[in-house]
Amino acid sequence: MVWTSHPVKQITGTLRAPGDKSCSHRALILGGLAKGTSEISGLLEGEDVLNTGRVMAALGADVERVGEGAWQVTGVGERGLQTPKIDLDFGNSGTGSRLMLGVVAGYPVEARFIGDESLSGRPMGRVLDPLTEMGVQYEASDGKTLPLTLKGLSDLSAISYQPPHASAQVKSCILLAGLNAQGETQVREPRITRDHSERMLRGFGAEVTSQRDGAANVVSIQGGQSLFAQETIVPGDPSSAAFLAAAAMISPRGGVVVEGMMSNETRDGFYRAAALMGAHVGAEDVGTAAGERLIDMSFESAELKGTEIPVDLVPSMIDEFPILAVLAAFATGTTVVKGAEELRVKESDRIKAVVEMLRVNGVEVEETKDGFIVHGCAGAVPGGGLVETHHDHRIAMSALIMGTASQNPVSIDDAAMIATSYPEFMAHMKSLGADLQKGTS
Ligand code: S3P
Repeated sequence: MVWTSHPVKQITGTLRAPGDKSCSHRALILGGLAKGTSEISGLLEGEDVLNTGRVMAALGADVERVGEGAWQVTGVGERGLQTPKIDLDFGNSGTGSRLMLGVVAGYPVEARFIGDESLSGRPMGRVLDPLTEMGVQYEASDGKTLPLTLKGLSDLSAISYQPPHASAQVKSCILLAGLNAQGETQVREPRITRDHSERMLRGFGAEVTSQRDGAANVVSIQGGQSLFAQETIVPGDPSSAAFLAAAAMISPRGGVVVEGMMSNETRDGFYRAAALMGAHVGAEDVGTAAGERLIDMSFESAELKGTEIPVDLVPSMIDEFPILAVLAAFATGTTVVKGAEELRVKESDRIKAVVEMLRVNGVEVEETKDGFIVHGCAGAVPGGGLVETHHDHRIAMSALIMGTASQNPVSIDDAAMIATSYPEFMAHMKSLGADLQKGTS
């Protein structure tokens, strides 16, 4: 279904950020493994997370919705995972599938992992290779992709592994497998990535150590540890809030406050990059949740300047490049993104999708091997294009944000995938004053 975003003069209001997607997956997974009943509030009820909940239930956990964003999960504890009677369907979710490959690896069960067309094209070798080193066997389609069948085992060997990519999913998969391995498992990541698995594993009672070694990060976990049920309040998602922030920054009259957002230096690269481009980002401490600091953030209209995005910010803003590209389109001057080749294997080839999104809307942009170069329109983005989203939620949301401040409306070919990560996106944007309508007129 085509949706169109018509330009508006003002984007203003105060909103609560939706629950963080990464923490929501992990709350269901760790709760599903723990002894006892965990209470979760503020869970993101997006399709990706709901699929992880269904998968944990198929593996023997008791997963129950008790209110809006409120869930109770009784974990399998000592009993361990059971062999599922159904295929484990992860829909669109790279995080759910890769983390759960690590979980299933450590139990003597066999499970078939499936997903939608986009997920079935994404590389799983990055987690299957280290899991094979730990002793796991699998049968996968050519190219190590889903659908695949994994045979876990109760005596996994611990490994010390240095992933070739900076990836929190790979790190988390190995740590979750390491929880049930014999001996100490170590992941030496080349650059630090989001650290929610480490924080939340500690919250559920496991001992996990992290040591910085220059830009690298070494995380270790001892096998054979038990997890214990916890109360988890899921903090607000800085990746979802980035869309609201950008809408305020490019609006002629922008003023948006997002409450209850997670502040974590492995996730805040977009906000640091926006500040480098001249945006004013306000932040006020309001407490803690799930081992994370919580802040209320404020954003306003900004005269943005193009910049070269520092390569060391890339892992901490890996999901924010589509919306950063929108800021770059409105900026004066050139914005250069490098060192972001991982974008090629996200829900879509995000380098290609971003370049097409800007080009059909009259923005001059160059595609490079590991990023893109945007020649900003100094506030005057022509718009008027129909953006192909390639079933990628973040491309869909970015294009609709672009349309709020471009000279002509911006349309997208499909809005359905937005529900994977931000089901309230349309309602939230409308409440801030966006004019989003079905169809092209
Ligand atoms: C995630 C890790 C990142 C990110 C994804 C969520 C996670 O993926 O893009 O949206 O929750 O661990 P990579 O590990 O592939 O970088």
